[in-house]
Amino acid sequence: MQKRMLGDLEVSALGYGAMGLSHAYGASLDEKESIYLLNKAYDEGYTFIDTAEVYGPYFNEELVGKAFSKIKDKVQIATKCGIRLAEHDRGLPLPDSSPAFIRKSLEGSLKRLNIECIDLYYLHRIDPKHEPEEVAELMASFIKEGKIAHWGISEANEDYLRRADKVCKVSAIQNRYSLMYRDYEKLFSVLEELNIGFVAFSPLANGFLSAAYQKGVKFDEKDDYRASMPQFKDESYAQNKDLLALITGLAQKYDATCAQISLAYLLGKRPYVVPIPGSRHEARIVENAAAVNINLSHDDVKAISSALDNMTISEVFGGTKK
Ligand SMILES: NC(=O)c1ccc[n+]([C@@H]2O[C@H](COP(=O)([O-])OP(=O)(O)OC[C@H]3O[C@@H](n4cnc5c(N)ncnc54)[C@H](OP(=O)(O)O)[C@@H]3O)[C@@H](O)[C@H]2O)c1
Repeated sequence: MQKRMLGDLEVSALGYGAMGLSHAYGASLDEKESIYLLNKAYDEGYTFIDTAEVYGPYFNEELVGKAFSKIKDKVQIATKCGIRLAEHDRGLPLPDSSPAFIRKSLEGSLKRLNIECIDLYYLHRIDPKHEPEEVAELMASFIKEGKIAHWGISEANEDYLRRADKVCKVSAIQNRYSLMYRDYEKLFSVLEELNIGFVAFSPLANGFLSAAYQKGVKFDEKDDYRASMPQFKDESYAQNKDLLALITGLAQKYDATCAQISLAYLLGKRPYVVPIPGSRHEARIVENAAAVNINLSHDDVKAISSALDNMTISEVFGGTKK
């Protein structure tokens, strides 16, 4: 697979989001199947693997550690810290950037991932009780100790990014970015100015943009977050009629699938955007990987952006901003 740069970290142009193997999309897959899928992703060229302490919790990092124990130097592993898991508050994470908490997380992640140095360590959520400079200093000390190689911020904003980057070079942000949620394009100019990459999470709007889920689709209310995501409600299908028609039309034009077009659009927006789609299905992991070979023309990328600016799009999980 082609490569892209996040600051000075080289990664595969698409990363594999491991979260869904054991978090948010129903009961966890078993270990054997998860490791098989992680290895399959690697075989398809995804060398950039995304996990987090809270996925599982903990279990997801262990899977990644086991899957890549023999090829540690061939993958770039990203994980995240800074969330206290309030176990009874499903989906309501509590940020905690206190140095003692983060240091304890780091030691745990290194152990579970079975590595000596994390390629990219993100602050998962900003904690307003701790200044960006304090967190950046902590990350600088981890880099000095050789425990992390690069750091990043998830759900970053411009002020935090600028202040943190002054203290310790930030390599990447990881924010929501898809055809249904483009609000963080407002960060493009600061990312370019500071040479920071943009890792796009939920790039398929949790699968909705693949057009594989029809109106009336049902998910397990107990442990599949999609059951309450607004984009999968019956009424959203009418609201997204134009969006689905746009993607389907492009899929025909490029002899591609809707998921591939959705990923190719993000890749075509900026050379430092790295989407990290997740899937529990081998065939979809292969399908998504092939999106890097679809080069949407510059005119098509512009036309899609302008069509999106002018169309009705339903609410999407995590925000409503186009
Ligand atoms: N930093 C953060 O706060 C944050 C938040 C959310 C996610 N993330 C990261 O971003 C990664 C991806 O995000 P995400 O899982 O939220 O959203 P996503 O990648 O947009 O969507 C994943 C969903 O789409 C489905 N899917 C994937 N490829 C498909 C295809 N070709 N055709 C049809 N359906 C397809 C998957 O279903 P199947 O599994 O059934 O194929 C899965 O349910 C996560 O794994 C995680 O690492 C980070």
